[in-house]
Amino acid sequence: MNNVQYAFVLRRLATILAVAILSLSLTAAVTGILLSFYYEPTAGGAYNSLREIKSEIPNGWLIQRLHEIAGNGLIGTSLIAIVVMFLGEKFRRSWLTAWISGILLTLVAIALGWTAMLLDWTQLGYWRFTIELGTVEAVPGIGSLLREILTGGGAINTVTVAHLYTLHSYILSIGALILAVIHLGGLLLQEKEEKQTLIESEAKFS
Ligand code: HEM
Repeated sequence: MNNVQYAFVLRRLATILAVAILSLSLTAAVTGILLSFYYEPTAGGAYNSLREIKSEIPNGWLIQRLHEIAGNGLIGTSLIAIVVMFLGEKFRRSWLTAWISGILLTLVAIALGWTAMLLDWTQLGYWRFTIELGTVEAVPGIGSLLREILTGGGAINTVTVAHLYTLHSYILSIGALILAVIHLGGLLLQEKEEKQTLIESEAKFS
């Protein structure tokens, strides 16, 4: 494969991945909103409401599973997109817009997965969060402030679930949607600019 074909394949692949990223973000957002109709963001209530969603609400298990697949799929796809974009780097404005938004989106997707850790209020989630909170607290300078924000000041309890739920379902999910749109927009602009360059070079040599 020559260089022109290689660059074309990478550019197209990045655009296709950006479409997948936006679709996964939308799927996660819609299924998240559907989950929120029955989900109860309290200690204990979270576990019981999710059990009810999975076993008693019609198609609840499907919505919960779709949310899980879309959310985790978003992390994987955005990581692959970063590698593809790195290999096909262009350093023009459209590429840079997609590159920066892609990196931020990956970080936001990982943060969405992280904030969901305690949302099911299981033993595994609780103890994993307890250990990771220790790491957060060890961040120099802002560690104790971050702990306060996440837990609400005291132990891991209903306030912590409510704080993580707010970060997850409002702040981070809206951030992910905005970044996914900017990422796709940058790559579509790149496609347009490449097409224009091709037309101009063809006109020059004909
Ligand atoms: C771009 C949007 C979103 C993404 C990428 C996302 C991602 C995730 C991920 C990765 C998980 C963990 C799934 C697992 O491995 O078990 C999760 C769980 C959860 N999310 Fe979201 N989420 C989004 C939006 C929302 C919204 C808008 C809400 C509610 C209004 C929401 C509510 C929940 C709840 C209640 C859980 C816990 C469900 C469980 O553990 O089974 N999410 N989300």
